[in-house]
Amino acid sequence: MQALAALWVFVWAHLSPAWGDVVSSFQDAPGCLDFFYQGKVPEWGAATPGTARLCQRFHNSYHFATLYDTHHRIAVYSAYRFQTSDGGGREKRWFVEPQLVDLTWGAEMRDGYWLGQDNPDIYLGERQALNEDYTHSGFDRGHLNPNGHHAVPSRNATFTLTNVVPQNPKMNQNAWRNYESQLTDLFNGQCAKAYVLVGAIPSASNWIIKNNVKRVNIPEYLWNAYCCLDNNNRPIHSGGATALNTEQNRVDRRTIADLTAFLQQYANSPVGELFLNNCEA
Ligand SMILES: *[C@@H]1O[C@H](CO)[C@@H](O)[C@H](O)[C@H]1NC(C)=O
Repeated sequence: MQALAALWVFVWAHLSPAWGDVVSSFQDAPGCLDFFYQGKVPEWGAATPGTARLCQRFHNSYHFATLYDTHHRIAVYSAYRFQTSDGGGREKRWFVEPQLVDLTWGAEMRDGYWLGQDNPDIYLGERQALNEDYTHSGFDRGHLNPNGHHAVPSRNATFTLTNVVPQNPKMNQNAWRNYESQLTDLFNGQCAKAYVLVGAIPSASNWIIKNNVKRVNIPEYLWNAYCCLDNNNRPIHSGGATALNTEQNRVDRRTIADLTAFLQQYANSPVGELFLNNCEA
């Protein structure tokens, strides 16, 4: 009996990180792969040094997946399935990822304020951006996975700092926001299901600097790719966009092929497919 208990503790200790937010591969976490069309995880960004794979857990379930770059402290991308929003207001908290502070910590995203209060002697921001980094920075906390593409509680879960990047306020509140609502109309009107990837391309040397420390990279570009399916799970539409993260306030629509070629400029190895078979029937 004792041996069994010991074995159980051993197995638990070795497996439990895979049940949390930070996983060694998205394939390890049942439910986390559901945010990728046909369970295919893009090769894009997989080799970026210092990345962590986050299955975004809130109220005891997963809501989307994020490939997070702990050096630049912004996401490489978030992957999600579109949900029709039922309103519900704007989440007031900003969450952080406890397991990016310590892998043995809880699996659920936590309000950064309270996690800090509970651990006054531990700096939470070594491997992730904190709310204070954005304060007075001149940049918006720009959602990659937008809250408007979800119902509660997934909507709340998008308010995690691992899902936001420093975004030009004009671009965030105008051209990018318009693009997001055009997608809402398309997905609600024509798609039984839609899978979306939204990513950021870090800039070479543009950062939010706090106390002389380069804290959060200000991305050069944001990009988006979507795959829309009919009732029989057949792809019927696909597309994407890129936007320079400046006052220019312009979103350029692109085909998946064109977006892939765009991303290739920022990669040393082949970008590969963003969606299985490029979301073609
Ligand atoms: C989600 O956010 C709304 C708006 O702030 C809030 O009223 C609600 O309690 C939140 N839901 C959960 C599950 O935290």
